[in-house]
Amino acid sequence: MTDRHVPRVIPLTDQRSSSLPIPPIMADSAIGSGALLTDRRGRPLRDLRISVTDRCNFRCNYCMPKEIFDKDHTYLKHTDLLSFEEITRVARIFVAHGVQKIRLTGGEPLLRKNIERLIEQLSSLRTADGQTLDLTLTTNGSLLARKAHDLKSAGLQRVTVSLDGLDDAVFRSMNDVDFPVAAVLDGIEAAREVGLGPIKINMVVKRGTNEHQILPMARRFKGTGMVLRFIEYMDVGATNGWRMNEVLPSSEVVKLIHAQLPLVQLEPANPGETAERWGFADVHGRHDHAAGEIGVISSVTQAFCGECNRARLSTEGQLYLCLFAGQGYDLRQLIRAQSTDADLTTGVERIWRARVDRYSELRSALPFDPGSPVRRIEMSYIGG
Ligand code: GTP
Ligand code: 5AD
Ligand code: SF4
Ligand code: SF4
Repeated sequence: MTDRHVPRVIPLTDQRSSSLPIPPIMADSAIGSGALLTDRRGRPLRDLRISVTDRCNFRCNYCMPKEIFDKDHTYLKHTDLLSFEEITRVARIFVAHGVQKIRLTGGEPLLRKNIERLIEQLSSLRTADGQTLDLTLTTNGSLLARKAHDLKSAGLQRVTVSLDGLDDAVFRSMNDVDFPVAAVLDGIEAAREVGLGPIKINMVVKRGTNEHQILPMARRFKGTGMVLRFIEYMDVGATNGWRMNEVLPSSEVVKLIHAQLPLVQLEPANPGETAERWGFADVHGRHDHAAGEIGVISSVTQAFCGECNRARLSTEGQLYLCLFAGQGYDLRQLIRAQSTDADLTTGVERIWRARVDRYSELRSALPFDPGSPVRRIEMSYIGG
């Protein structure tokens, strides 16, 4: 069964143009002191996710339902997008403040013209202690076979590919544009061949839609060196008609796999990471490194806001401090107002120091009213 014809879509209320004022300097502020930049909950800034286009050639029902993102949907104009030079300028300031990982997202980032030029510029940035960045990109894989080589040459280190199933009919139905799974598998293979690894594969699990793909996916990627992650279907954005009964908790995913392919829980690799890691076990119940690992991302059933170190820059230069934010801060206006780097630096510092976001932690405490209007930015606009 698939969700393709379920008519449960909520119209889009455009949140894109309203933005928040940059917070004032707080009494306890250490601005300009050179101290590590942390937010109000003590969380450092480590991960910058940059959306480079709000367009996508897929229409995954959980992200860009066809009924909303149809031919009448207004996408951002080219002049509204941050240029590559503007993106790199902002990114440099973030890197100076502790960002170590930059992820390009969309929409589908490979649809942005000349994306390789942006990658070249970003790959030249260095952290304060002279390290190269962890420079990566999330893609639906449809253009990867064609582009993998050039992406690697431009300086991209690795890719994460979204793949919601191996069965062709399920896959075509979930992307809702009848795109064949074989072409994405070819893209993954091309990325592997040129060394865009370690490759991660992201599968959004929807109960009643693709849970029967969990085991085939686990079997397929076991022992390949690629890390498959299962993502709980989230209430992100405001159009996907999310319902709790379509969320398959990660605990059930782990149980299902463990029954066939025994797993052992692994320690986190980095503080604040999204995925809980599980290794395939050997006959002694120890992690079999050759078999590799899977991850589960449980934003709904087990929030991971406590160490969230991620900031998100939208295609048009709005800075969002949470995937579930309703409003962002207009950095583009700052950039285009001829601000100096010092002005931009102060802006970024003030914004991050005032941050209190922890939506997933609060979700369970909030009353959920499916009829009430939601002010939340779409994931296709802000990026995964
Ligand atoms: P890696 O460094 O490759 O492990 O990146 P990552 O763990 O940040 O993973 P990725 O960017 O692939 O994110 C995977 C998925 O996790 C996204 O598509 C979202 O569904 C979810 N996700 C990522 N970041 C957040 C976050 O800050 N909050 C919530 N609630 N979900 C997130
Ligand atoms: N729930 C969970 N993940 C989502 N993504 C988009 N929408 C959702 C949602 N509602 C993520 C998926 C996809 C990436 C581009 O965005 O991980 O692979
Ligand atoms: Fe496109 Fe990714 Fe959203 Fe699917 S999840 S519609 S591939 S941006
Ligand atoms: Fe971070 Fe917001 Fe996700 Fe929590 S819900 S982990 S604060 S992005």
